Amino acid sequence: MTKRVAILISGRGSNMRALCEAMASPDFPAKPVLILSNRPDAAGLDYARAEGLPHAVIDHTQYEAREAFDAALDAELSAAQPDLICLAGFMRLLTPGFVEKWAGKLINIHPSLLPKYPGLKTHQRALDAGDAEAGCTVHYVVPEMDAGEIIGQARVPVLPGDTAETLEDRVREAEHTLYPDCLLRLVSQA
Ligand code: GAR
Repeated sequence: MTKRVAILISGRGSNMRALCEAMASPDFPAKPVLILSNRPDAAGLDYARAEGLPHAVIDHTQYEAREAFDAALDAELSAAQPDLICLAGFMRLLTPGFVEKWAGKLINIHPSLLPKYPGLKTHQRALDAGDAEAGCTVHYVVPEMDAGEIIGQARVPVLPGDTAETLEDRVREAEHTLYPDCLLRLVSQA
């Protein structure tokens, strides 16, 4: 049966696009039912509009408390009845209550080889440490940041002369294959 996928973004949305392009294939057993941004100006929304994909904005600046924002997020998601929620460059920390409600259905992509470098500035931290390789991780979301069970990882080399920007670009390329591959694996399970 076709699974229902919601995707949460905050910005560029290149991973959301990679997921949607994969799901556009007729034999992919999932479809995007909601693309949701916490920023009205997220560039990724242009793609959703152009493709006629269901999309919504819940502007976090309109909510004083994290719990109120997450309640609005929860209401919008509940209406879309997703089987899986993919965080794709969604840069808001989610409250434990929200995460627990959607446990097992909530996944994220993170630009490092977890458990190395949870949090921000992952590429600079890999360079500062002199790492020979970097990469990305798709994992289940749990209340502790970037700590959930790992679903898949992809590795890229760190090359001489790399800056945080060149490394970020190489990792992002890898993300665009890893995330659809992990999604396919999850939605293909019974
Ligand atoms: C991606 O590299 C993703 O791994 C990262 O943000 C970027 C979003 O790019 N996510 C995080 O850092 C989460 N903490 P995109 O908007 O082009 O998909």
